[in-house]
Amino acid sequence: MSRPEELPENPTNGTPSTSGSHWHARPNADKISCPALLSFYNNDLLNPDENGNVSTAQLDDVLESVGLNSKVRGVLVKGADKTDEIPDSFNLFALRDSRLDHSGSTSIRDPEITPEKLEHALLKFSENGRMYAEHFAAAANYAQLQDPGFKGTMVQTLEFTAILEVFGRVDESKKRYLTIDDVKGLWMDGKFPQDWQPRNSDEIGVDDVVSGVTEMAVKRLLQLLKL
Ligand code: HEM
Repeated sequence: MSRPEELPENPTNGTPSTSGSHWHARPNADKISCPALLSFYNNDLLNPDENGNVSTAQLDDVLESVGLNSKVRGVLVKGADKTDEIPDSFNLFALRDSRLDHSGSTSIRDPEITPEKLEHALLKFSENGRMYAEHFAAAANYAQLQDPGFKGTMVQTLEFTAILEVFGRVDESKKRYLTIDDVKGLWMDGKFPQDWQPRNSDEIGVDDVVSGVTEMAVKRLLQLLKL
């Protein structure tokens, strides 16, 4: 795997360290609206220049290091590249008002960091300390009521699916979930879940994302019909 010089290496196997041992609060982290990008930044995987610009090649390497296959990475990298005028680059600290900003998000980190919303917009939907797809589905439905819009809420479903695919723990029935502490850590501090290990290279493909989004969308619909 090609990797920019600055990615921290895990001394045991030479791959980028995703163990969380590099975590530290970094300048301008509050300007990052995406919890996943925040975690890559605070774990030194994403390293912008002095103006906040990150090359799309670096983004691609980071997304590869957490198990996304080339097709999924291609979509995300293209989306990032289109957020500013500079070719093959995006500004990590200027995504809030970019074309990727959408309706129906939790608004915990956008338009500004609001820790009180963590409980109302996410954690209150958890059960027994865990958030599975159905709990994120309920959170997405709640967010859509606050800030309606079809396209935005579909993107939200995709983002919630992606966070479970990338960071989710797997239970005895092979279902993915995040604990309350995982959610707090990701959204507030950009901390990887404790003991998190990235999935194997190229493991997360378009099919996984599409089936995850479909599953979450169906759960959302069923929950709405119950109201
Ligand atoms: C591993 C890949 C990624 C995962 C798991 C992920 C996950 C998420 C999640 C769960 C949210 C919703 C936050 C909330 O509603 O509180 C979000 C928001 C966001 N993400 Fe990501 N993301 C990923 C990659 C990216 C990339 C590559 C970009 C662009 C460079 C990006 C840009 C954004 C933006 C701008 C928002 C805020 C949207 C808004 O509040 O309107 N994300 N992401």
